[in-house]
Amino acid sequence: KTITLIGAPIEEGSGRRGAAMGPTALRIAGIDTVLAELGHTVHDEGDVRPLPARDLAHHPQANNLQMVGAFARALNDAVHDAARKGHVPIILGGDHALSMGSVSGMARHADDVGRPLFVLWLDAHADFNSPTTSPSGNMHGMPVAFFCGEAEFAPILASDRPLVDPKRVYQIGIRSVDAREREEIAEHGVNVYDMRTVDEMGMAHIMRQILDEVRAVNGLLHVSLDVDFMDPEIAPGVGTTVPGGATFREAHLIMEMLCDSDLVSSLDVVELNPFLDDRGKSARILVELTASLFGRRILDRPTRSA
Ligand code: ARG
Ligand code: MN
Ligand code: MN
Ligand code: MN
Repeated sequence: KTITLIGAPIEEGSGRRGAAMGPTALRIAGIDTVLAELGHTVHDEGDVRPLPARDLAHHPQANNLQMVGAFARALNDAVHDAARKGHVPIILGGDHALSMGSVSGMARHADDVGRPLFVLWLDAHADFNSPTTSPSGNMHGMPVAFFCGEAEFAPILASDRPLVDPKRVYQIGIRSVDAREREEIAEHGVNVYDMRTVDEMGMAHIMRQILDEVRAVNGLLHVSLDVDFMDPEIAPGVGTTVPGGATFREAHLIMEMLCDSDLVSSLDVVELNPFLDDRGKSARILVELTASLFGRRILDRPTRSA
């Protein structure tokens, strides 16, 4: 495959500093070399330059709207351009507000090629708030509502852009949902596999269901991986840890099944906060998971005995 790496050093969508260092940490952890060693052609475009967004007025319940809008506009174009060339864009975050742009860019591409876009959202949070429902005003809690067209509170992107059907959004790992957010996801038919469902059904069964539905209609699949999807014990480098997350084995299994399916069109790796990480541990896990998604398998790497 040809992979385009796009850095998105945004932290203004989260309530704290540090996620802007995420793209650098992922590069230091070797995301480009790992993918190249798997036989892919890798283009690192560097970090996107935010587009002007002075037209977006201050909003009391959408913190740092201008900066979030500036990155969303830039990624909407950069991701669409990469996909149009036949590349697989990987967006190196940056906080999860960046998915307003990356997923919207992929929705444009899916529209161009006449295929439905599905989104696999791997996260502790549903990220389906809007300024009216959000308890924090932090825009990294709003991207899913935004790209589904359910949070049109400011002209960040054109309102006639291609949207994602909430019924084509699959969320796994969910264990922290705000009160009004819960009503919204139910009302709009988002497919939520919360941690209890993961425990009861098992990850393999869930993934088979999702992949069958995407394959049945020849869909494109965008994967959005939030660090807090994983348990904080294995991935502490994130500002919004929630106990009881996915294990190392569950996360790798998802990536391996995604790889086998060959349905993945694009990937966000988001919310890594190197300031909160433990000696690069979370950055390294994200690179390992990306490697599994792009073809690394256990039996390709026999362990040498000492
Ligand atoms: N639900 C909370 C909020 O809206 C937390 C969102 C966390 N989102 C994230 N991408 N880490 O403020
Ligand atoms: Mn998130
Ligand atoms: Mn999260
Ligand atoms: Mn609604």
